[in-house]
Amino acid sequence: MSVDLLLKNGTVIVDGKETARSLGVKAGKIEAVYVVGNEPAAQETVDCSGLYVLPGAIDIHVHLRDLGQSNKEDYMTGTRAAAAGGVTTVVDMPNSDPPVLTSRVLEEKITSAQEKRFVNVGFYAGVPKKAADFDASITPNILGVKEYPHSPLVQGTRTGPQRALDCMRICFELDLPLLFHPDSSKPGAVPEDLNDFLALHSCDNEAKSIKLFLSAHSEIGGRLHVCHVSCESAARLIGEHRAEKSLTAEVTPHHLLLAGSDFIDSDGTAKVLPPLRTRQDSEWLRHALSGQCSIDCVVSDHAPHTDQEKLVPFLKAASGIPGLETLVPLMLTEVFDGRLPWVDYLRCCCSAPAWVLRIGNKGVLTKGYDADITVVQREETVIRGADFQSKARVTPFEGRRVLARPVMTFVGGELVYSYGKFMVGQGTAGRVPVRATR
Ligand code: NCD
Ligand code: ZN
Ligand code: ZN
Ligand code: ZN
Repeated sequence: MSVDLLLKNGTVIVDGKETARSLGVKAGKIEAVYVVGNEPAAQETVDCSGLYVLPGAIDIHVHLRDLGQSNKEDYMTGTRAAAAGGVTTVVDMPNSDPPVLTSRVLEEKITSAQEKRFVNVGFYAGVPKKAADFDASITPNILGVKEYPHSPLVQGTRTGPQRALDCMRICFELDLPLLFHPDSSKPGAVPEDLNDFLALHSCDNEAKSIKLFLSAHSEIGGRLHVCHVSCESAARLIGEHRAEKSLTAEVTPHHLLLAGSDFIDSDGTAKVLPPLRTRQDSEWLRHALSGQCSIDCVVSDHAPHTDQEKLVPFLKAASGIPGLETLVPLMLTEVFDGRLPWVDYLRCCCSAPAWVLRIGNKGVLTKGYDADITVVQREETVIRGADFQSKARVTPFEGRRVLARPVMTFVGGELVYSYGKFMVGQGTAGRVPVRATR
């Protein structure tokens, strides 16, 4: 029996070990992994000698903007950034302009993403001011519900115990995960200097917010997912409550690898929420991710802003940094430098994100799964924002040495990106919206 596509003689991770294998793709799905020399006939063969053949990363926390904020990013540039970065599925946050609170706005985003996509795109929605107004008809097209306690999607919303319960109940009833940005700082508070900013968005405030949602979770049940855990106290809290199993968490490469002290106080390029913390915090996060396994996923929190919003003094700068083109190179550098086992990379960047959102058939290279594949060259390069496909090119990782370069990206068996070039037109590869298996 022949296959459509054969990725021949690449390095595939089998039981945590680098192994020479060939990968067959048929009708957009993985057909089988073959011992080299045992491959079937193929319509098309790509020689992957000397290259790693890995599942595409699944980034469940990105802000692709579009609509009213297309100057920052749109679905074309955002999904091109994903493809170039070795990310084959992204899940888009609802804090857009307008925010996703109704099926009408979601439909607009879906239509735009369908036209412009280069990878698979899923979506989240927020909860309206009156939780009872949540539009349940939106459910099949979203993968989860997101709450922003410090920066509500609707002005005047206060995330106290009642609101946390209301959000948790909606999610429980609709069988959706509730995601939240852990921060209990007062919405609209304006910091006067850097220390003020750090005090406002402190680790204590992060932990306090996690406690609030943990309490709603233990009362209602359902699935709770903690976004971008940034400090030791927050990671400890999650570790202690893991027994519940329905509690999951994510961390970003910038919180894993950078500390606030790496940057001068006036520098806005690394301004992000939650803020970069201390070296001790990032060390703890790395331990929680791979030693303890109390953190499930690594996500980019790709948050594009314009140069004019970033290249200004810290207090004036917008919070958020681009991450779609640095996630895979940075995490694979951890692998190649011997700090992260392969099994942990595959879990936190590929299989766990799919599992957390119940995205079936993605995240592993197994028969029947979608042929979303990233081919990587092990090679030393330097991160340059100017090389990004994203409209956001100011990165705190500027000049950083990495040991991995995504060279080819396949989405549903189609070669979307190859050595700096896009091989398909917009809106042809990938699925929008990505849906959960129910
Ligand atoms: C995000 C953004 O710009 O949308 N900013 C950020 O600093 N992370 C919002 C968010 O994820 O909280
Ligand atoms: Zn956030
Ligand atoms: Zn440790
Ligand atoms: Zn975010």
